Amino acid sequence: MAKMAASIVEHGEDAFRKLFKFYKRRNPPPDLSDVIDFSKGVINGKVFCRELNTGSVSEAAARRAGLHPVEDWKAFGLHGYPGFIFISNPFLSGSQQYWVKQCLKVYPRKPNICNLDLHMSAEETQNIWEKSTAQISQKRSGKREPKTLLEKLRWVTLGYHYNWETKTYSADQHTPFPSELHTVAQHVASACSFPDFTAEAGILNYYHFDSSLGIHVDESELDHTQPLLSFSFGQSAIFLLGGLRREDPATAMFMHSGDIMVMSGPSRLLYHAVPKIVINPGADLVPQCLLQRSDVPEDSVVRRVSEQDWDVCTKYIQTSRINVTVRQVLGKGVAFPVGSADRSTAPSLNDAYHESSSEGEGGVDEKRMRSSSGDS
Ligand code: OGA
Ligand code: MN
Repeated sequence: MAKMAASIVEHGEDAFRKLFKFYKRRNPPPDLSDVIDFSKGVINGKVFCRELNTGSVSEAAARRAGLHPVEDWKAFGLHGYPGFIFISNPFLSGSQQYWVKQCLKVYPRKPNICNLDLHMSAEETQNIWEKSTAQISQKRSGKREPKTLLEKLRWVTLGYHYNWETKTYSADQHTPFPSELHTVAQHVASACSFPDFTAEAGILNYYHFDSSLGIHVDESELDHTQPLLSFSFGQSAIFLLGGLRREDPATAMFMHSGDIMVMSGPSRLLYHAVPKIVINPGADLVPQCLLQRSDVPEDSVVRRVSEQDWDVCTKYIQTSRINVTVRQVLGKGVAFPVGSADRSTAPSLNDAYHESSSEGEGGVDEKRMRSSSGDS
């Protein structure tokens, strides 16, 4: 059984898709023994330790951003994937809670755009957090209640708002990028030797335990010399990293809460997917690193989360994962080309749904991510 995943990889033509289906399967549950777990360190011939640029971010600056000093980060590379960097949870205790809260309470607010905006009025999607918490507090136990807006949230875009229909970013769909997220992204990029990285666009993905994200490439950004940063919070996921061609074989790895993935250089345009969310086996379902007391200094951009807010976040995170991707869209000193729409034929982000489900309904918001049970 342990060799099952490996033999599928060797199959050739549709290796990635088969691996995706292998891990997405629920009955019987897939054997996860071939999934790389970076939190366990270097355990096989595929993983190696990576040096980071420790002088690029001062210890004080890192701590102010809620991060351990760069010299303490555990960074890994994968043989065969140059430019791919995996940083195993570099967050100070107490800072991940802030990012979870930002993603649930702050970033879905206007003027940012979310999946619910595609079929609801601005008034209806205003104050998603407030409307949902009011509904949650009125919940009567044992009764099946309609889903809150928070539970229906699937994606939020920041900065240059990705247009799922045209697969482009544009100058006229832009709102300010959150400065605290910009700071953290800049530190991570600098530590990975990309000191000029500018966080210009964010795509936040909200996964429930039964969601998946299909096989795709992120190529709509106009500058591919800059990395794509990906942050994971809450429940763990299985991430599949493939090749430059869709049918190339893929490598499976866990992404746990706090982990950061950097796709740069030759790995910037690799196919990838998230076939499965893996619920934390602990009794309270919340990852241990989200339960520790705070080590964040007083002068940090990372603020304390109120107990009331954290109660709501905890409930959410018991069955969910939040993924934050940060991208630089434009080259340094470059503007959007006039009247251009760079449409390529490779399956890119909004085609991802083709791969992840057998269900056939849905507008753009439902296409991106799938729940096996079917969302309402
Ligand atoms: C994306 C993406 C992966 C993840 O948003 O483009 O690939 O880990 N996310 O959720
Ligand atoms: Mn992606």
